[in-house]
Amino acid sequence: MSDADLSLPREDRCPGLSYSDMLAGDTRGAPDCLVAESNQNLGDEPLDPARYTSEAFAVAERESLWPNIWQFAAREEDLPEPGDTVVYEIADKNYLLVRQSDGSIKAFHNVCLHRGRLLRDEGGRSVNLRCPFHGFTWHNDGTLKEIPCRWDFPHLEGRDLSLPELRVERWHGFVMVTENHELPSFREWVGPGVEHYDLWKLEECHTAAWIGRVFPANWKATAEAFMEAFHSVVTHPQILGFTADANTRYDLYGDHMNRAITPNGALSPHVRGRGQRYILETIADFLGEDGGVRFATSADLGGFAPDDPLLARKVLAAANREAFQAMDGRDYAQSSDSEVLDNFTYNIFPNFAPWGGLVPNIVYRWRPWRDVDHCLMEVRILTRTPLGTTPPKAPHMHLIGEDESFTTVAHLIGAGLAGVFDQDLANLASLQKGMKASANGRIELGHYQESRIRHFSRTLDKYLSGQLPGKSINP
Ligand code: FES
Ligand SMILES: [Fe+2]
Repeated sequence: MSDADLSLPREDRCPGLSYSDMLAGDTRGAPDCLVAESNQNLGDEPLDPARYTSEAFAVAERESLWPNIWQFAAREEDLPEPGDTVVYEIADKNYLLVRQSDGSIKAFHNVCLHRGRLLRDEGGRSVNLRCPFHGFTWHNDGTLKEIPCRWDFPHLEGRDLSLPELRVERWHGFVMVTENHELPSFREWVGPGVEHYDLWKLEECHTAAWIGRVFPANWKATAEAFMEAFHSVVTHPQILGFTADANTRYDLYGDHMNRAITPNGALSPHVRGRGQRYILETIADFLGEDGGVRFATSADLGGFAPDDPLLARKVLAAANREAFQAMDGRDYAQSSDSEVLDNFTYNIFPNFAPWGGLVPNIVYRWRPWRDVDHCLMEVRILTRTPLGTTPPKAPHMHLIGEDESFTTVAHLIGAGLAGVFDQDLANLASLQKGMKASANGRIELGHYQESRIRHFSRTLDKYLSGQLPGKSINP
């Protein structure tokens, strides 16, 4: 495909009120970065299921992908005090983040330079980094402190035994690391779109809930299930009364970022014969009594015209502005309807999805786990720290058992969201099995609604073929 083809806009879109139409009726006016569309025709070639099921492909990812990208390794509030540490494990890599006495954060390969034991098995407070095997010890800044029975290591005299370091950059409360010292800065590496986050100030948020669950599916298959809203009509029918699933906007940026914006407070185009009242009723049912995680609700129509096609959005946005101000003390009076209402599911390549907007922000991360058929999916909920208060330390990740449902964490993420994740989980177990059993070896993608999956896959292929940093490996 030539570069010229890549710039062709697609015109195939779901009939009905588009997200852009909704922005045109926004009571506050939306920021330019929401208005501007950025999609491309990336072709129609099928994907090979082997990319999700073959060990050779996973080996190529371990060699060419994971060491050559910026990775979301921690949130600032995971290690707030000097001496706090975080262990971050990805594929066969293991990194140790340590908060320094000057407030900076260093990251090391979490491997003892004696015989290679992990220096720490898990995060926690560190006075020194002392290996639990024979006691080689480093200061928290990675310089060597002590070798027990030093007389037995005369050959190490004069050698630099500081712990090898990774690069660390901090971005809106996220701690990003890479072991590739040649990459540009994180912002430059992400490229176009990274500036959208300057609007939403996620550094003013903290982790209110953090859950993880091993999914019986490849990390990419799992991540991709959260890149499109196409599956909502069959997999999540309970949200169609208030989510315009098929009117989702999909935008693709440089190699490392894309997004979906799914409108809330609007009827799915799959639902017919229902009005604005129905939207308000179904969203209230979905959220239930304790449903403060995603939306506030209100049956008060706020003086908007009853026949306004955006009535429910306007009512819900007004309610959310009030609720958010009550929660954190900030003034949301000028925030657009969209930013206080919609789902902004951004992905930063390859496995990091910090939602944008001003609604309590979900953050997904997917990691290969155990083998090609499993991954660890993590979900954090970030909420804005009330003005004038100190963000609390992040809770530990609550790991849901592999025989347990997301309903066991309904008290942390809300029963509605827990039900949605259980529905996704059921698909993914069967997706992984089905891809292995495929007779024709072809995975087909929709032009528009699945364009993020194609964009993501294209970038991954660039890493594996050496077009982006890394060795050239053909799985
Ligand atoms: S492996 Fe760490 S001290 Fe021996
Ligand atoms: Fe889903």
